[in-house]
Amino acid sequence: MEQIHNSPVGPVQRVILIGLMGAGKSSIGRRLSKELDLPLIDLDDVIVEKAGMSIPEIFEQQGEAAFRRMESETLREAVEQPAIIATGGGIVMAEENRALLKQHPPVVWLQASPEFLAARIDGDSNRPLIAVGNTLNRLKSLAELRYPLYEACADLVVPREFLKKKEVVQIILRFLASRKQP
Ligand code: S3P
Repeated sequence: MEQIHNSPVGPVQRVILIGLMGAGKSSIGRRLSKELDLPLIDLDDVIVEKAGMSIPEIFEQQGEAAFRRMESETLREAVEQPAIIATGGGIVMAEENRALLKQHPPVVWLQASPEFLAARIDGDSNRPLIAVGNTLNRLKSLAELRYPLYEACADLVVPREFLKKKEVVQIILRFLASRKQP
C-alpha cells in the first residue's frame, strides 16, 4: 500500500517540480519538503551520488546521452516514493519522462524568462549546457524548445520571477489544498 503523509493541506504524496535551470526547483523543493513533511529527491543530486562524479564530469567523460539515461532511470525510481521531486531542466526532453510526469501529478512548472534565469546562473560552472557561448542565447533556445513541453506536462504553472520564494510555496500549497476538495 502506498504511504500517505498528512499535512495541513491534506494527504499529499508527491509534488514534481519542473522548469529551466535557475528557476529554483531545488530551493522551492526544500521549502515544500519541510512544509509537507516529505523527503526531497533532487534528481541531479541522486545522479551525482550514483555516478560518483559531478554533472560536468558526467557530460565530459560519458556524454550527455549517458546523463539522460541516468536521469530517466532516477526519475523512474523517484516517482515510486512519496517525495517532493526536483527535476533537472532537461527532464521533459524524453518522451518516456513526459509520460511518467503525466502519470504522477501534480507537476508544477516554475516558469521564468530566459532574461531572469540568465542573471541567476550566468557563469555557473556546474551547468554544462551553458558552459559554452552566451548564457542568455542558450537559455532562449532551450526555452523555445522546452516551454511547450513544460506546459504540456504541468498541472500548475507558477510565474516564478514575479514572486518571492515564500509566495511560490504558498501558491503551491493552496493548489494542493484545492485539489483535495470534492
Ligand atoms: C540541465 C539542467 C541541470 C542538469 C543538467 C542538464 C538541462 O539541472 O540536470 O546540467 O538540460 O537543462 P538544473 O535545471 O537543476 O540546473
